[in-house]
Amino acid sequence: MRRCIELAQQGQGSVSPNPMVGAVVVYHHQIVAEGWHQVFGGPHAEPNALALLPSGVPLHDCTLYVNLEPCSHVGKTPPCSRLLIDKNIGKVVIGSTDPNPKVNGRGIAMLREAGISVETGILKDQCDALNKRFFTYQNLKRPYIVLKWACSNDGFMAPANRERVQISGEEARVMLHRWRAEEDAILIGATTAIMDKPLLDTRLAPGKNPLRVVLDPNLRAPQLPGDFQTLIMNTRLGKNEGNFEWIKMRQDFAVADVLEILYNRQLLSLMVEGGAETLHRFLAGGFVDEIRVIRSKKLRMQTGVEGPKISMPLIKSEETNDDTIEYYGKEIVTCG
Ligand SMILES: NC(=O)c1ccc[n+]([C@@H]2O[C@H](COP(=O)([O-])OP(=O)(O)OC[C@H]3O[C@@H](n4cnc5c(N)ncnc54)[C@H](OP(=O)(O)O)[C@@H]3O)[C@@H](O)[C@H]2O)c1
Repeated sequence: MRRCIELAQQGQGSVSPNPMVGAVVVYHHQIVAEGWHQVFGGPHAEPNALALLPSGVPLHDCTLYVNLEPCSHVGKTPPCSRLLIDKNIGKVVIGSTDPNPKVNGRGIAMLREAGISVETGILKDQCDALNKRFFTYQNLKRPYIVLKWACSNDGFMAPANRERVQISGEEARVMLHRWRAEEDAILIGATTAIMDKPLLDTRLAPGKNPLRVVLDPNLRAPQLPGDFQTLIMNTRLGKNEGNFEWIKMRQDFAVADVLEILYNRQLLSLMVEGGAETLHRFLAGGFVDEIRVIRSKKLRMQTGVEGPKISMPLIKSEETNDDTIEYYGKEIVTCG
């Protein structure tokens, strides 16, 4: 199952809104084939693994391990449970049950009804953690939300006049671009768009650029630089222009409405990069799954815009040359 998780992780950034899945086929205590879901719309992990089975290996004497319950419905590809039944697999060992209402135990039931031995819940916590974005999306009907900010050693995010200040060092900036590539969308508030004019891209790390989202109820901010897919949530205007889309919201502009739009667009995860006002609105609504703070080791500001108070437990911290990276969350399980 640990190998399934390793394989599945290779799909990070390319399978959303699908979950990350890896599968291995074991014959006489040896892995004889393995595969993972590589790209959204492409074959799932199970057919990819079965396709690499060496000829002559009898599948009815093999066990297939997979970190997520095989699907039972026809989506972009035929159901994997049906494939495993048709191929006469001997046994199936599963990590997490699929929370997608189209599956949710049906894949397991199909296999058992066909007489296949099924074991479930193996390394369940690690398998659930691997697909935390997919599980949150399915269970809470909103994207998985990471709040992120950088602050001076004494806790300030910006000077009082809101002018742009470079807080984090080079290593943390590269790390941030890697984080961005892992999420489906990045969000900022109007004042940050005005003061920082950020690109919000992943130029310092490999991986795709996430969708950019600006909360700008009164259309105060200029268009962000860079020609990447961008949503501007506002209360005045609905229109499309190339990669930029203005979405007209209700006058009372609520974070929950923003999240509903992102959910309907099948965005599994969102990183909120500030500023403080925007972060406070997410925290006030309880819309947070994880917090990451890049705290400068040297810079002290003494006054300015304070970072939000954190009520989640500190899970771990990491050191770079210039910064301490603090991770806060609800649970301690990691999938590594
Ligand atoms: N250190 C860091 O990590 C970091 C990160 C980002 C930004 N910053 C700095 O932070 C400063 C800006 O932060 P800020 O707190 O002043 O502003 P901000 O959070 O960037 O933007 C706040 C504005 O966004 C709109 N907005 C955001 N969420 C909303 C919601 N839920 N509902 C309605 N409107 C919403 C509102 O615009 P209206 O006023 O038009 O209604 C609000 O006034 C800048 O100096 C920037 O450089 C620092």
